[in-house]
Amino acid sequence: MAEQNLPLVILTHSLPPEWLAKLEGKCRTVVGPWDAALEPYLGEAEGLFCLLTIRVDGDLLQRAPNLRVVSNMAVGYDNIDVAACTARGIPVGNTPGVLTAATADLTMALLLAAARQIPQASRDAREGRWTTWSPAGWLGADLEGATLGIVGMGKIGRAVAQRAKGFGMKFLYTDIPLPPEVEAELGATRVELPELLRQSDFVTLHVPLTAETRGLIGEEQLRMMKPHAILINTARGPVVQMDALQKALQENWIGGAALDVTDPEPLPPDHPLYAQPNCLIVPHIGSATRNTRRRMAELACENLLAGLEGRRLPHCVNPEVYEKA
Ligand code: DGY
Repeated sequence: MAEQNLPLVILTHSLPPEWLAKLEGKCRTVVGPWDAALEPYLGEAEGLFCLLTIRVDGDLLQRAPNLRVVSNMAVGYDNIDVAACTARGIPVGNTPGVLTAATADLTMALLLAAARQIPQASRDAREGRWTTWSPAGWLGADLEGATLGIVGMGKIGRAVAQRAKGFGMKFLYTDIPLPPEVEAELGATRVELPELLRQSDFVTLHVPLTAETRGLIGEEQLRMMKPHAILINTARGPVVQMDALQKALQENWIGGAALDVTDPEPLPPDHPLYAQPNCLIVPHIGSATRNTRRRMAELACENLLAGLEGRRLPHCVNPEVYEKA
């Protein structure tokens, strides 16, 4: 097909060209940054390749009358008004699976770093406070025999359990029940959230952001946790009520928190949580490994091309668009 006849795709951000090799010769692209300069292209665009930072809502869809596919380079899709896309018959793609291991790895990294106070100990060493081998200095929490509460036992929750099993941890989880053989293999017990919070030494969140999970962990829940417990969030920031967390850390209701995700994102540099010595914050890097991010981009390209070619998206979050057609 002549270049000018290829469908137009908006890429909201610039990505390494080798990640987008699959698109070559299949579409024309305009590339972000996502700002007013892209607005004139919305009218013609047939595909949108976006990141989790882009809000795709009814208003945007109205300005994009020719849009036929939205491809989100993320497994989470709370940035997209899926119902509005479905109403327009637009399939929405996401990138499940490929980031499970990387996100579970980061969860363990945060858990270990918070348990052993690695950021603080490293700062102390660098800033001259390592004056001797101190028998009772920089004491952290043991993982062996500790209970890890996993809120949301999907792919990532289970991958965390597999890793944590190697550290001799015990598990509680909330979610729909796992098959008995998987529960037995992991040694995981399903409980309700309050019991999980009361009994766990570490609590890690792996739920998608939905109307039900927004604000799931607030003052009431934080007060249920053990005073030494550590909360880890690699899911979505708004699952935790940030003001309540700030209070919980300041007043030592819990032992600490390790956050890959916050509300808002990015968290402004003057946010009081940065001043909390028992709070470790990293900038939403759960999937940030070279292979994982490349695989996410490739999967997003596959979804995009399928949508442009009128094929079923390999990973579609609103398959009902196909039932309607
Ligand atoms: C996702 O894909 O939803 C992750 O949050 C990105 O790391």
